[in-house]
Amino acid sequence: MNIKRIGIILIIVLFIFGCKDEEEPEMPLAQSTVLLTVGNSKNLAAMLDARFNGKTITWSSSDSTKVTVSASGIITSNIISFTTAEGGSKKYTEGPARAEALVTAKTPDNKTQEFKVIATTEAQEKIMDLPPLKDRFPPGFLVGNIATGSSVSGTLSRHFNALTSENGMKPEKISNGRNTSTGVINYTWNNADSFVKSATDLNIKVIGHTLLWHSQIPQWQKDMANEPNKATALAAMKTYITDVVTHFKGKIYSWDVLNEAFPDGSSGIWKDKIRPENPWYKAIGSDFVYEGFLAARLADPDAILYYNDFNTDNSNRANLIRDMVKEVNDKYLALSADNKPAEEAAGRLLIEGIGMQEHHNFGVSAANIRTTLGKFKAIGVKVSVTELDVLAQSWSDYSSRNAVTNNGLLTQADLYRQYMAVYKDFADIIERITFWGVTDNQSWRSTGLPLLFDKDGKAKPAYYKFVGAIPTTW
Ligand code: XIL
Repeated sequence: MNIKRIGIILIIVLFIFGCKDEEEPEMPLAQSTVLLTVGNSKNLAAMLDARFNGKTITWSSSDSTKVTVSASGIITSNIISFTTAEGGSKKYTEGPARAEALVTAKTPDNKTQEFKVIATTEAQEKIMDLPPLKDRFPPGFLVGNIATGSSVSGTLSRHFNALTSENGMKPEKISNGRNTSTGVINYTWNNADSFVKSATDLNIKVIGHTLLWHSQIPQWQKDMANEPNKATALAAMKTYITDVVTHFKGKIYSWDVLNEAFPDGSSGIWKDKIRPENPWYKAIGSDFVYEGFLAARLADPDAILYYNDFNTDNSNRANLIRDMVKEVNDKYLALSADNKPAEEAAGRLLIEGIGMQEHHNFGVSAANIRTTLGKFKAIGVKVSVTELDVLAQSWSDYSSRNAVTNNGLLTQADLYRQYMAVYKDFADIIERITFWGVTDNQSWRSTGLPLLFDKDGKAKPAYYKFVGAIPTTW
């Protein structure tokens, strides 16, 4: 095992009174807690700059045997075997690791501040004590999470301005039957309605997830796979979409109209690669994609329509998705204005966005995500990161149910940093980043501890690394 990596530790700098500033007694620095990660100079500089009201800071260490701090403000990551406050050298081979040191910071006008530095992999601050995550992004940028019930918690509303119902608006939860002789569809709106009202009352944007899928669908939709009459299936699909989108009209910011059309590992011509277990594809053929999006557009022209999928970092899948979205959009662009919503802007796309789910693990490289974003940008769509969670282990360790290690939490943290750094470079097309859960224990992949907060709602290294990678200017 690599001792260096094990030793890359999370740093927390607690501001304590060094010397009091007589002229500026109100300076917020003195009461602040600042958190940063080892080696993450941006994080450190950004946070300190805010508290020094924009002044540049230079650093010197009060004791170079305890921690190395460079003149540019970078605490280097060579705190591998770190001399603890109690003395002695401590190696972090198993977690959670923790040690302390003192650092003195000097401002350009020679004022000094003393910091207690705690290096640890332990989860730290509680979610409700942290500044709202949404405030770290520019106004209008959507930072989302999922709601598991039908009301919105204070935790969610503090940090997030967009919400997706984890399961509550999926076809199996919305609709429970269809009369085969009349074609009338039955709906169960209550829970979804309460969720939508609860979120919109708090000014939180609601993401509709999802209209067309092969999974979590009611029996009547599964039965559509065996519907011999294409026109009947097409009418049923259009009725379902029209009913649902109309029911929530004006309340949904964007709809994931179609979810996961392609099976894992597919490549080639998109029309031939749609998963056969999608009943709409089975009964209607690949036209169901265009027809489904068109029905959604006509039912609520204000909603942004998305195609949503997983493993979009895979280049073959990215190509399939791009080809499908482009072909559907080209067909829509050629449609006469008479068949589009009144007053629709010329040139408006039908599939305006691609949702990249981003359920990751150690095998997913940021470079591949970058390449995919480039492909999607080239066809003029927006992108949202719709379901972000990153296992703190490899896929094989997760599949074998091996325990997450201390080192895994640090690798996870660095992946969150790398991914955010890529999203930042595509800020012109990314409109939302949604995490698929808040605390690890509530995750659908809980054994892989994939989220920013631990089971006690405390921030993990992943939180600090992710936040540290958000640019201060967008
Ligand atoms: C997951 C939920 O998180 C689970 O609770 C449920 O059991 C299965 O579905 N892609 C999607 C999401 O689009 O709807 C899925 O959500 C995760 C994968």
